[in-house]
Amino acid sequence: MTLFAPLIAIALLIALPLAGLAASGEGLLAVGVPYAALAVLVVGFVRRIARWANAPVPFRIPTTAGQGRSLDGIKPDRLDNPATTWGVLGRMALEILCFRSLFRNTKQRLAPPARAESAGDKAAATARPVYVSAKGLWFFALLFHGSLLVIVLRHLRFFLTPVPTWVDGLIALDGLFAVGLPTAYLSDAALLAALLFLLLRRVLIQQVRYITLAADYFPLLLIGAIAVSGLLLRHAFKVDLNQVKALAVGWATFSPAVPAETEAFFFVHLFLVCALAAYLPFGKLMHGAGVFLSPTRNLANDNRRRRHVNPWNAPVKVHPYEEYEDEFRGKMKAAGIPVEREEGS
Ligand code: HEM
Repeated sequence: MTLFAPLIAIALLIALPLAGLAASGEGLLAVGVPYAALAVLVVGFVRRIARWANAPVPFRIPTTAGQGRSLDGIKPDRLDNPATTWGVLGRMALEILCFRSLFRNTKQRLAPPARAESAGDKAAATARPVYVSAKGLWFFALLFHGSLLVIVLRHLRFFLTPVPTWVDGLIALDGLFAVGLPTAYLSDAALLAALLFLLLRRVLIQQVRYITLAADYFPLLLIGAIAVSGLLLRHAFKVDLNQVKALAVGWATFSPAVPAETEAFFFVHLFLVCALAAYLPFGKLMHGAGVFLSPTRNLANDNRRRRHVNPWNAPVKVHPYEEYEDEFRGKMKAAGIPVEREEGS
């Protein structure tokens, strides 16, 4: 069921534009839906960021995984326990560009017993759980995000006139091996391979399957459907790219021109992209923006060097000792309790 519901949702997202095209023509799908999706994306994104940005962070809670800054003779770990803004920037940059914490991913397995039970030592004869490095997830996660970025950047050729030289360069580099006609892109192959790994990991590994929700399958399947529909557009259906470009430039300049006689399958690709855009602020894909606002990552660990006063502290009515003594001086003296000051001094 966890996988079934997202599969049905993707099938509907493919069928809907085809049905819509037959019922109401290109206008709604080429103009109405993209603008509506963009509006949902912008409003949803801003609201989610505003909610996170307004969450009180009354004290610093960076994740520390190394020696904190301390005495002069003790070497601090500047990246894993950053004490300065530069340290935080270095840690964030490595996290965002290289997925550094995922690089340390481990998995548990049972190691064979050290000795046979006949030796009499029961503990040595039982299998032991050991933790070993697991770089697969790190590698494919990096491949997935990297290839998606390259594909999105390559799509800029539809939106920009003239096409910037760096976009042309990226396209040439991505099709370097000139396999097939039209050229197959390296980033497309990388994206499909990474998607397959990420999906199979959730389906085949029992422990991962147990904690996987429909909300984990859905974005993977949706991005997979976008990639496959894009590949079909390029290699099977052959859409008129001039019309696509006129439409995309029209969106960007707020004067969209509804394309005449465009390949129907183009609207499947476009509708899936719109669905992704509208879904983005509400699901786990917001981690892309959330990582920048994560207090366990974006704060320096200077808790012991600096006094942090919670800016949201409500004023508290305090009763210091001086006032206490003024109030009870008479009674204290009568009871023989020493006082610090005499009345009026
Ligand atoms: C999240 C956004 C998007 C993703 C991940 C995506 C993905 C892809 C992929 C993987 C391909 C296969 C060929 C290639 O890599 O160029 C493709 C092709 C294509 N996409 Fe997208 N796409 C996205 C957004 C869009 C948008 C907004 C448009 C509309 C302007 C569009 C129009 C096309 C067209 C026309 C092709 C065929 C290109 C060709 O024949 O060379 N895509 N897309």
